[in-house]
Amino acid sequence: MLMLLTVFVLSLTLVAPSAPREDGTALSPVDDIRSSNPPVLINVSKLPKTVEVNITAAVTRLSLIPGVTSEVFAYNGHVPGPTLDVREGDHVIIHFRNNLPEPTTVHWHGIHLPVESDGSPLYPIAPGATHDYEFTVKPGAAGTYWYHPHPDRRTGFAIGKGLYGAIIVRAADDPLPKSIPDRLILLSDNRFLQDGSIDFPAGESLHGGIDEENGREGPVLFVNGHVMPAMKIRPGEVQRWRIANASAGRIYRLALAGHTMLQVGSDGGLLEKPVEVKEILLTTGERVEVLVRGTDAPGTKTTLQNLPYDRYAPQTRPADWQTTRDLLTLETTNETPVTPVAIPVTLRKIIRLDTTKATAVRTIVFGQGMINGKHMDMARVDVSTHVGATEIWEITNIVGMDHPFHLHGFQFQVLDRDGVREPYLAWRDMLNIPKHSSARIIVRYDDYPGKWMFHCHILDHEDHGMMGVLEVKP
Ligand code: C2O
Ligand code: CU
Ligand code: CU
Repeated sequence: MLMLLTVFVLSLTLVAPSAPREDGTALSPVDDIRSSNPPVLINVSKLPKTVEVNITAAVTRLSLIPGVTSEVFAYNGHVPGPTLDVREGDHVIIHFRNNLPEPTTVHWHGIHLPVESDGSPLYPIAPGATHDYEFTVKPGAAGTYWYHPHPDRRTGFAIGKGLYGAIIVRAADDPLPKSIPDRLILLSDNRFLQDGSIDFPAGESLHGGIDEENGREGPVLFVNGHVMPAMKIRPGEVQRWRIANASAGRIYRLALAGHTMLQVGSDGGLLEKPVEVKEILLTTGERVEVLVRGTDAPGTKTTLQNLPYDRYAPQTRPADWQTTRDLLTLETTNETPVTPVAIPVTLRKIIRLDTTKATAVRTIVFGQGMINGKHMDMARVDVSTHVGATEIWEITNIVGMDHPFHLHGFQFQVLDRDGVREPYLAWRDMLNIPKHSSARIIVRYDDYPGKWMFHCHILDHEDHGMMGVLEVKP
């Protein structure tokens, strides 16, 4: 009887979070993804609906690529950092310690929270100092997010050194069947010198100049910190992939060879209805959730690929930009096929923000290295508004290189791109603005006053001044 019960409990945990805990104990049986997922932060709170975790950023050495070790900046000794796994309505407290030799912050990218907990460059944490970040996860916010440092002018460097991690917010009532397993796909890239050190050329050097112009990219592509990990799927199985782009400058054009994917979510959570897609353009900082179906023959393999995408200016476009690169292999196992689960046709209702309520239209012009002709000045307010206001932002990119727009603190909806109405509703905090194009978004500043950042999420651009301050007055 006891045996039976254990077996029962074990099989239940199969559908639960699929990552090891930081202390090494598994939340689920060992499978392919167990070795590929970052650990999950341990909740030390005994209180209901409370998640209390400890994160320390420190310098350490890790082997990121075979045969060598690299000096990295790491959260709790891991690259990527451990995953923050929470539920809607949870009160989250992060006890953070900065053991780095430089100031840092932790920014909870995409999360709607009080400004003091946003980890923007206005709230630096000195070397050796500690800070408690605290927020309550809003109902309806279930989705995939990520966290990263946001120190003044050093964000690209700090992320390149290894500081980034995933956030998963689970729904109180998720419309997708519980039997669908979750897979995290946290994308990043990096560049190394022969001895293993992470390559940050001096700003004045030729290569440093190219990094500054393009946004730093590297030839090594990582999924959850691994190069070309193997993932498995059972014949007939449906998996939910939470894909996040933590690269400093690389925009991914993702395709799963021989498959279409069913997109179910964007930055701010589920869409209203699943959308069948052949490929996904995932800009820096952006997340999508897709359903992948095990339709291949047992024992065969396919790959998740990064297809060529030309975001670059011709003068600095990498020579190999047209090369398709593989990110991971997906192997269909020889296990007995599972009966595919039914996927709901409706996921949730998204309330459309009302353009007739908009009290201002903001004009944002992305030039090279500047927004509205200005460099970032933390002492300046670029856009001033108040809590509860609804506004339209018209964002225009006047140069021959893509610039991904990001707004802190508030999710927005896209109205149109180059005058073409957006086909479906989605909550976003990232929007790629391709070269010589424009888009209009609508946003409502709910709940939280304060000074919020908006910027280009090519981190070298942001660090060199492509950022502005939005002040939301009480
Ligand atoms: Cu991903 Cu200002 O941040
Ligand atoms: Cu952000
Ligand atoms: Cu940019």
